[in-house]
Amino acid sequence: MENKILYNWKSWWRAFNNHNFFAIKLGVSILLVALAFRLLFNRSLELSPVSETPFLESVAPLITVYSETRADHISPQDSEAKCDLFDGDWVPDKTEPFYTNSTCEFIEQHQNCMKNGRPDREYLNWRWKPRGCDLPRLDPWKFLDLMRNKSWALIGDSISRNHVQSLLCMLSVVEKPDHVYHDEGYKNRRWVFPSYNFSLSVLWSPFLAQAAIFEDIDGVASSEIELHLDKLDKNWTRHYNDLDYMILSSGKWFVKGSIYYENDQILGCHFCPKRNITEVEIKFAYRKVIRNVFSFIIASKHKGIIFYRTSTPDHFENGEWFSGGICERKLPARHGEFELKELNRILRDVELEEFEKVSPKAAENGVNLKLLDVNPLSLLRPDAHPGPYRFFQPFAKDKNAKVINDCLHWCLPGPIDTWNDLLMEMLVGG
Ligand SMILES: *[C@@H]1O[C@H](CO)[C@@H](O)[C@H](O)[C@H]1NC(C)=O
Ligand SMILES: *[C@@H]1O[C@H](CO)[C@@H](O)[C@H](O)[C@H]1NC(C)=O
Ligand SMILES: *[C@@H]1O[C@H](CO)[C@@H](O)[C@H](O)[C@H]1NC(C)=O
Ligand SMILES: *[C@@H]1O[C@H](CO)[C@@H](O)[C@H](O)[C@H]1NC(C)=O
Ligand SMILES: *[C@@H]1O[C@H](CO)[C@@H](O)[C@H](O)[C@H]1NC(C)=O
Repeated sequence: MENKILYNWKSWWRAFNNHNFFAIKLGVSILLVALAFRLLFNRSLELSPVSETPFLESVAPLITVYSETRADHISPQDSEAKCDLFDGDWVPDKTEPFYTNSTCEFIEQHQNCMKNGRPDREYLNWRWKPRGCDLPRLDPWKFLDLMRNKSWALIGDSISRNHVQSLLCMLSVVEKPDHVYHDEGYKNRRWVFPSYNFSLSVLWSPFLAQAAIFEDIDGVASSEIELHLDKLDKNWTRHYNDLDYMILSSGKWFVKGSIYYENDQILGCHFCPKRNITEVEIKFAYRKVIRNVFSFIIASKHKGIIFYRTSTPDHFENGEWFSGGICERKLPARHGEFELKELNRILRDVELEEFEKVSPKAAENGVNLKLLDVNPLSLLRPDAHPGPYRFFQPFAKDKNAKVINDCLHWCLPGPIDTWNDLLMEMLVGG
C-alpha cells in the first residue's frame, strides 16, 4: 500500500513538473486542484469499488467573518417561530454516536476513521446547537415511518456518497436495508428498507449537467471534460418523476479542466493550457448550471420535496493536499477561525444568490425547494476529516510514514450525521 502511495506521489510529481504552471490565467492553485484529482482518483489506492475523491487547494488565512452577537437579538418568542437551523454552535455532548464501525456496514473504507485506527474520539462528542432552538437527533423510527412507500435520492459527487452512507447507518439501527441495485462502478446505488418499502438511492452526477469525462480507471484524464452548460445530466433527470425527495448538490468538480458547450458549440474553456480556447470563469459555468437545475425543478409537473445542499469546505492546513497539508485538529474551530477559501467562496456565493432568486418562483409554482445549508456548520469542523486515516492503519509500519491526508470528506460517524438531523427537522418542522 505504502509503496503504491509513494509511487503515485512520484508519478504525480512528474506530471506536475511537466506542466507549464504560469500559463494559466486562473493561477497555480487551480492547476494544483486539477492535478489533485489525478492522484486522488487513483483506483489502485482504493479498497472499495467507488473511487472519486475531489480535493481542493490550500487553506486561506484566518480572518473573522462571523458575527458573534446575533443570538442576542433573537427574542425567545421569535426563536420558536423562525429558528435558523444553520446558525449555531457546536456544543459538547457525550451522547454516543448512533452507530460505529462495528455496527454499520455501510461505511466506506476511506471514511471509516475508527476502523482505520484514528486514535482520538473527541470529534464525536459534539452536537449542533442552533442559536434559536434545539436540534433533536434524527429519530430513525419516526423517519422511516414518515417514509413509507417513499423514495429518496441523493444526487451529486463523493460528498453525497459520504452523506448517503451516514443516512444508511443511522436508519439501519431500525432495519437493515437491502442493496437492490448498483451499476458497474458502484457509483449509482439503491437500497430498500423492506418493512417500510422505503427506497434510498445515491445518483452520481458531479456536475448535475451533461458531461463527458475522459478519465481512465486511475483518474488520469486523456482530455478535458466536455461540459454542456445548457443540458442537464439525464443520469438524474430521468429518475426525477419517480422520486419523492431529492437532495441535489454540486460544485467541486467545476474546478477541473473543462471545455464548456452551449447549443453544442464550444463556448469556452476552464483550465485547458494545451488549447487555444477562451478561458471562462468557474463562476459563470456554475451559475449557468444551477440556474438550469432550478428552472427544470420549477417547470416540472412532478412535485417532489427538493433540497439543494450547499457545497462543503475542506480544511487542509500547513500546505496543500499534496505538500503535506494536514487536518490534525481535535476540536471544532471557533467562529471566524476558518474563512472559506477562494474557490469555496465562489461556489457558495453562486449557490446563495441563485437560491434566493429562485425561491419566490418556487413558492409561486408550489414547488417545495429548500436550502440545506450545511456549509457554515461544516466550516467549523476541521477536526472531523479522516486526515491520514483515509487508509487502514497508516502508521502501523512506520510512525513517520508520509500519507496523503483527506481533509475534505467526513469521518463516519461524525458531524455529517448532523445533516440528517437537520433534514428530519426540516421535514417535520415545516
Ligand atoms: C472498529 O474499530 C476498532 C478500533 O477503533 C477496532 O478494534 C474494531 O475491530 C473495529 N471493528 C470492525 C468491525 O472493524
Ligand atoms: C411501495 O411503494 C410504491 C410507491 O412508492 C408503491 O407503488 C408500491 O405498491 C409499494 N409496494 C408495496 C409492497 O407496498
Ligand atoms: C403503501 O403502499 C401499499 C401498497 O400500495 C398500501 O397498501 C399502503 O397503504 C401504503 N402505505 C402508506 C403509508 O402509504
Ligand atoms: C451518466 O452515466 C453514463 C453511463 O453510466 C456515464 O457515461 C456518464 O459519464 C454519466 N454522466 C456524468 C455527468 O457523469
Ligand atoms: C488562437 O486563436 C485566435 C483566435 O481564434 C487566433 O487568432 C490565434 O492565432 C490562435 N493562436 C494559436 C497559437 O493557434
